[in-house]
Amino acid sequence: MSAQEPLYPHYLPIRPEGFTKTIDIPPFDIVEPGSRADPAKPEIYTSAAQIKNITPRVGTEIRGVQISQLSNDGLDQVALLAAERGVLVFRDQDFADIGTDKQKQIAGYFGPLHQHPTMGYPKGTGPEFHVVYADEKVGNLRDLLGPRTSYDLWHVDQTFTANTPGATFFWVLETPESGGGDTAFTSLTAAYQALSPSFRNLLHSLELLHTSASVGEIARVGQERALREAVKAVHPLIIKHPVTGEPSLFVNPTIARQIVDFKPEESEFLLSFLHEHIRSLDFSCRVSWEKGTVVIWDQRTAAHSAVPDFEDGARRHMVRIIPYGSQPQAAFPSTKS
Ligand SMILES: [Fe+2]
Repeated sequence: MSAQEPLYPHYLPIRPEGFTKTIDIPPFDIVEPGSRADPAKPEIYTSAAQIKNITPRVGTEIRGVQISQLSNDGLDQVALLAAERGVLVFRDQDFADIGTDKQKQIAGYFGPLHQHPTMGYPKGTGPEFHVVYADEKVGNLRDLLGPRTSYDLWHVDQTFTANTPGATFFWVLETPESGGGDTAFTSLTAAYQALSPSFRNLLHSLELLHTSASVGEIARVGQERALREAVKAVHPLIIKHPVTGEPSLFVNPTIARQIVDFKPEESEFLLSFLHEHIRSLDFSCRVSWEKGTVVIWDQRTAAHSAVPDFEDGARRHMVRIIPYGSQPQAAFPSTKS
């Protein structure tokens, strides 16, 4: 139980205006910060830095680099490394304590910020801040979703607009006393590479319908309202990463559940395989949160899932900011009919 007061009361989620409509952002052009970066990444690979792969295929843990001290060049290098490695886990950061203005300024360097229609934000800020909060009063993700055998919920955040999220910030304020509450990530580029060339060819021309009427939003606002106010976009199933050029299996099990022009049974059949495929331990990793941890991950190359395994009533307090990146492009457009 979380009997004590929160460590960061000024970051408790509020939503005075209630749930709003999802904003349908018109398409826009953006220069990807990672495309400007020095490939040697001198502000990250310093003599003081300790950097190691979490697994060879996804995730890098970094100590000795302070995000708040990086120049714009350094932030470009972060974007490039996130694109290459999927997930960056920065330890021992002061980020949680630099104030919301500076947090917004740093994340906003990567692109315009997504405004969430239903999540709470810290008082004095706005819906660009997404507070993920559980305690004995508000409950946790298990309470939101109701009885299930598993609370794995692999997804990419907020992909229902023409431009989709890029390098995303997620940081911890308070971890559950019981332990747990990790976040899992899986490499969508490694998931693509694991498929045979023949099978990949079957996927290259396909597109998915992404909708804001996701599993999570239906749980929050109800199915009727979620469907009535849904914002939708179509994206290629296999996208080319805008910085690395790597093909990526751009599935999104909670948001994109329909293959364009497929009959429902065909769509269900193929997507159920792909959704199971991306869960493989072969190309996923699990991030354990510690005081001072900030994760920056690239939503075009890594999907994620919460691991809501902590005790009922335990407090877990996190904040996320999502900058938009460019519009997903097909990796193999010439194969389209
Ligand atoms: Fe998410």
